[in-house]
This record gives sequence, structure tokens and C-alpha cells, in this order.
Amino acid sequence: MRRSAPSSTIYCNDVYCNGARLHGTTAGGLRKALFGSALLSMALAHAGCGQEGLSPSAARGRQVYLAQCIACHAMDPSKPGPVGPPVKGASRELLEAKLLKGTYPPGYTPRRPTAIMPPQPQVASDIGALADFLR
Ligand code: HEC
Repeated sequence: MRRSAPSSTIYCNDVYCNGARLHGTTAGGLRKALFGSALLSMALAHAGCGQEGLSPSAARGRQVYLAQCIACHAMDPSKPGPVGPPVKGASRELLEAKLLKGTYPPGYTPRRPTAIMPPQPQVASDIGALADFLR
């Protein structure tokens, strides 16, 4: 069996791998590795920002919101987004109706008369977390 060492370098384009190659590399490689870890710590600092004081459930809800909703709603849920209205304060009942069925709870007056938003069944298991984040 031939152990093909070079093939492992094919996947060597991420920060982790730059770090792994730190030993015995040139100054250029070292700079690259340091730059990589600087980027990584910036990314980590950024990911943590705005999470302070959130319960684990609300922090999860924030992640889901940022991943699934801000194509249309604003990053700040209390503001109108590029397509959707503010959703700050949306209750669990409202989220369930709108996200799963494209409807509203009985007696609820929608913020918009339109029906543009497609149902978002992929977030079904995170509705409680979304409600905690938006409350
Ligand atoms: C494709 C764009 C789009 C996406 C993605 C989207 N929305 Fe919406 N959303 C809208 C629009 C537009 C409305 C206004 C009503 C309508 O036209 O459907 C709305 C309305 C709502 C409402 C009702 C607001 C009210 O009080 O009347 C809630 C709650 C809501 N969205 C939550 C979410 C959440 C949570 C996500 C992410 C899981 C999400 N939306 C993803 C476009 C979107």
C-alpha cells in the first residue's frame, strides 16, 4: 500500500490546517498561520457579540433567526427588514401559525396585509427558541 502524503495537503486550505503546518515552515507560512488565527479570533469575537445576557434558548433562537430570517427581516428584529415587517415580540402562537401554516392566530391583526412569506417548516423544532429570542 502506498501512503500518499501529498494528498492530505489537498484539504489544507483552512485555518486549522495552517496551524497544523506551523512547524518548520517559512516565515511566509508563519505569517499566514498567524493571519489565519487572527481571523479566527476575530470571527469568534464577532460570533459572541450581542449574545450577552441571552439565555441558551434565546441565543439559539438568535442563531436560527440570523440564519433563516434576515434575508427578509432586519438583523434587529424591532426594525423593518428589506422585505418583512418588524417581528420583535412575536409570540410562540404567532410564530407557529405563520412559520408552519402561513396563517395567524385567531383574532391576531397582521402587521401587513400581504401573504408573501413562504412557510418555514425547517425551523419547526426551534420555534420556542425563536420566541425566546424575539420576546
Ligand atoms: C422570503 C422572505 C421572508 C423570510 C425568509 C421570512 N419572512 Fe417572515 N415575513 C415576511 C413578510 C413579507 C411578512 C409580512 C406578511 C407576508 O406578506 O407574509 C412576514 C411576516 C412575518 C411575521 C408576522 C409579523 C406580524 O406580526 O404580522 C412573523 C412572526 C415572521 N414573519 C417571522 C419570520 C421568521 C421567524 C422567519 C425566519 C424563520 C421569517 N419570518 C422568514 C417575509 C419573510
